[in-house]
Amino acid sequence: MKKIITTLALCAAAFTMMSCGSDKSSGDKKMDKFIDDLMSKMTVEEKIGQLNLSGGDVPGVLSGAQGIDDLIKMGYLTATGWTDLDELRRLQALAVEESRMGIPMLCGVDVIHGFYTVFPIPLGLSCTWDPALVEKTARVAAVEASSNGISWTYSPMVDIARDARWGRIAEGSGEDPYLGSLMAAAMVRGYQGDDLSDESTIMACVKHFALYGAAEAGRDYNTVDMSKLQMYNSYLEPYKSAFQAGAGSGMSSFNLVEGIPASGNHWLMTELLRDEWGFNGFVVSDYDAIGEMTNHGLGDTKEVSAQALKAGLDMDMMTLGFLKTLKESLAEGKVSQKDIDTACRRILEAKYKLGLFDDPYKYVNKERAEANTLTEEGLALAREAAAKAIVLLKNDKNVLPLQKSGTVAVIGPLAQDTQNLLGMWSGSCDQKSATVVDAVKEALGASGKVIYAQGCNFTNEEKLAQEGGVVCDPAQNTRLVREAVAAARQADKVIAVLGEPRSWSGEACSKADITLPAAQKELISALLATGKPVVFVICSGRPLVLEWEDQNCPTLVEAWHGGSEAARGLADVIFGDVNPSGKLTTTFPLRMGQIPIYYNYLNTGRPQNPEDHYTSKYLDCPNEPLYPFGYGLSYTTFEYSEIALDKSSASGDKDVIKASVVIKNTGSCAGEETVQMYIGDPAASISRPVKELKGFQKLTLAAGESATVTFDVTTEALKFYNSQLQKVWEPGDFNIFIGTNSRDTQKASFVWNK
Ligand code: BGC
Repeated sequence: MKKIITTLALCAAAFTMMSCGSDKSSGDKKMDKFIDDLMSKMTVEEKIGQLNLSGGDVPGVLSGAQGIDDLIKMGYLTATGWTDLDELRRLQALAVEESRMGIPMLCGVDVIHGFYTVFPIPLGLSCTWDPALVEKTARVAAVEASSNGISWTYSPMVDIARDARWGRIAEGSGEDPYLGSLMAAAMVRGYQGDDLSDESTIMACVKHFALYGAAEAGRDYNTVDMSKLQMYNSYLEPYKSAFQAGAGSGMSSFNLVEGIPASGNHWLMTELLRDEWGFNGFVVSDYDAIGEMTNHGLGDTKEVSAQALKAGLDMDMMTLGFLKTLKESLAEGKVSQKDIDTACRRILEAKYKLGLFDDPYKYVNKERAEANTLTEEGLALAREAAAKAIVLLKNDKNVLPLQKSGTVAVIGPLAQDTQNLLGMWSGSCDQKSATVVDAVKEALGASGKVIYAQGCNFTNEEKLAQEGGVVCDPAQNTRLVREAVAAARQADKVIAVLGEPRSWSGEACSKADITLPAAQKELISALLATGKPVVFVICSGRPLVLEWEDQNCPTLVEAWHGGSEAARGLADVIFGDVNPSGKLTTTFPLRMGQIPIYYNYLNTGRPQNPEDHYTSKYLDCPNEPLYPFGYGLSYTTFEYSEIALDKSSASGDKDVIKASVVIKNTGSCAGEETVQMYIGDPAASISRPVKELKGFQKLTLAAGESATVTFDVTTEALKFYNSQLQKVWEPGDFNIFIGTNSRDTQKASFVWNK
């Protein structure tokens, strides 16, 4: 990480009292008056201090400031990161008791999928297709985090991702803007509740605004180049949904948006976010994203800091550019007093709304920390979420669920592990987590026996091992495989837990090869050769390319990195206490060369046609993915009737078409199905995706039971952004698809007239 630290720009200036040219009225007179009064007493340096989120040792940056304590006392640090409660109290005391204005600090942290109680990675959580459950997980995270000093989380991450090479695909809700929008809003509601000033709520920060998930070639921080149509129709909705759910803050992304870094992009942060969407909170930069504008070719620190502020970015994370240069830029007319005041006001408003001016220590409360950390209810929810996030990819000959009996060999590099199963963005959780070995023992109780073998290392590739901090020792791998085969031979059945360590997904963890490493395939082959029934479980932070595994393994379970209760949730599914119901929210490619691959693609002028050579296809690989968006099996089976429409044409804005299917549970146990409804618009003023998710319903059916599921189709489901970027529906023919995933659907058509 390049840090640009120049010498003093702000320092010795005498405190200058400035009037506080306010932006617009918030509608809360009491708050406006409070902040007017406060700002009327603040110096320009103190106002700029509210825009600075860079602590640590900054010798020479400010006169006499040698570290974080001095920065705080001078009023030059707006928020801290997380540390223990005593230290947080001490730091807050410096701000409110020893700085001239006594303005409290925020405490901001990446609470991404839980805090102490860790839930599945967000990609896994989204596979529940259950926004209410996701909201509950965010609520538990908020209660736990707020009890441990935190007032602000850098979440939700709502970036749409269509490229599984990108390590941060783990942090979002997959590839679909409709589902992504529901998840985004659910998380904001979970964090913020109805009342931001409540001690159990924390402020959300929607990130990474915008388009961060579209990094070229799936390489983190890489260039993004996208048309406005693509932005509006496929990428922006989840951000909008999160902001409209009331998120108090947003975070600018590292990437370019139409050639201009997001952090200095006036169109993005002012015209779109504030003028069009009506957002009135504050925007923080991503980590040194202002400084990185220099690498993007936009000028030196002073230049880019001024550009960022003028673009509508309020808080500088880690560049120190605002603190060091804004005063000078003000003197030179590069930024105005109003620019500084507007940003400062937005940040003070956030602190006010959190209630920090009333009680700066409200989040620092040891009793609450004691009572609300790793609670039984929270862990029970983590277990439920871990099980519901699991996607059953393959279950030939109904190997699953396993009977709770006999000798079970639990094998694999993730079998005796707790840390990796927590996933990226999680600390360590040594308190209550079980390993898969433990969880299988718990499930079997006295009715079975468990033996364990490591089976293999994650990889035999040196660079990958080194980057991920895991062992690379091919000779050891061969020995581990041999030992695992011996263990499998003594067992009646085998559970193999393979996949990725958590260090292979998340930030800066892009991979060019997303197949399972050869070291693990060697183990799979050897276990298959024993002839024992083997359940292959993949724990990963991204979709992997599983073509070979799909061809060779009778069972495949995608369990993601499932959090604190990953192992128990997995055992619940493996032994049938929970019937799996997770559905993919990200397409699993058949081969890497298909990436980017997603279900809601635009038709080409030459759709593939086996009869015609000159059509859009690969010579060496089908166009279709291995497992499509929306896919996931159950221990039972569901049959779908044809679609019945109550009418085949509608007209005007208010009309409704009712589309129904009868779903029958044709298997032998109860199960939950997510019935998915997609719309296709085959003739419009712009090319439209072949289908787009527009609704879904979850239902549980007993064995043999049937139910009718009805979707009310309104013009909302037909709308899209046209070339003028207006959200419209256009009269004409439409297709409706209802099914168990985006590929296996029933189809019907209707006409919608003017
Ligand atoms: C990440 C953000 C994160 C921030 C603070 C950055 O590197 O991109 O997602 O919120 O660091 O930890």
